[in-house]
Amino acid sequence: MYSTREMQDKILQLKKENDICILAHAYQSHDIWEVADYVGDSYGLSLQAAKSPCKTVLMCGVRFMAETVKILSPEKKVLLSNSQAECPMADQMDADLVRQMKAQYPDYAVAAYINTTSELKTECDVCVTSSSAVKIIRNLENPNIIFIPDCNLGSWVSNQVPEKNIRLVHGGCPTHVRVSVKDVEKARALHPEALLLVHPECLPEVAKQADYIGSTTGIMDFAKNSDAKEFIIGTENSIVQHLQFDCPDKDFYPLSKDCVCHNMKATTLADVLKCVSLTGGEEIILPEEVMTGARRCLDTMLTLG
Ligand code: 13P
Ligand code: SF4
Repeated sequence: MYSTREMQDKILQLKKENDICILAHAYQSHDIWEVADYVGDSYGLSLQAAKSPCKTVLMCGVRFMAETVKILSPEKKVLLSNSQAECPMADQMDADLVRQMKAQYPDYAVAAYINTTSELKTECDVCVTSSSAVKIIRNLENPNIIFIPDCNLGSWVSNQVPEKNIRLVHGGCPTHVRVSVKDVEKARALHPEALLLVHPECLPEVAKQADYIGSTTGIMDFAKNSDAKEFIIGTENSIVQHLQFDCPDKDFYPLSKDCVCHNMKATTLADVLKCVSLTGGEEIILPEEVMTGARRCLDTMLTLG
């Protein structure tokens, strides 16, 4: 039985020996952050996907993130840290439904949140992430846009880009929708001096009350650079711990104790050790036509974002 420190040392040694780069989403636990080559939000991870000089990339996150790396770096071997790590939002909509919407609204461009399957992306015009959505939607030529599948993120974007005619489709993140206005009232009453920082996947009535709305990286950067000393964090609760670790002179409180994504938490340090030992994880393999079709959508995101 290894200690956390021993496992981390072994991971650092093996990833070097086996030429593996570790990318981790911000919702991963701190012991995984410490062995990663890059930690960030979905947009940052997409940018890193093509940059790594290593032959193998290990994605500690959820499936659509590992698929994004494979599509942007087809020559690399890409591993998903734990094959159970699915994003439930990504499975809310399939390519057939998009085809039906396109037939019904032929004059609309289709913008897909990156939290979607690769097959669905082949039917869309562009991908967006929480940190790039406003800029990309503003930069799209078509004034008519169908935004899928997160209607909370979509409605936040829509308010900021009123010149576009945005049609939302019902869907969203089951973790962030657990946060309620009651949670805001309770947290504000307990911490009246604290700033409220919220992810745009939260319900609009929650986001409306925030002092700042942004992606996971956006929230962390805001808290680190702010002169304020107390913050209520309205996103997955691992961010509360990461911020407390990085800024010991400030205080961070979860907006809701229920804002925990069990899919992101499926990956453990032991999984990472198995992956860098080349005895675990799932290699991502996608059909050629899916790789090509989805790449177009992701490339447009990187160009417009
Ligand atoms: P970002 O890190 O891009 O804000 O995404 C949040 C999220 O829920 C990822 O699944
Ligand atoms: Fe999916 Fe929400 Fe979990 Fe992100 S936090 S992986 S969107 S379920």
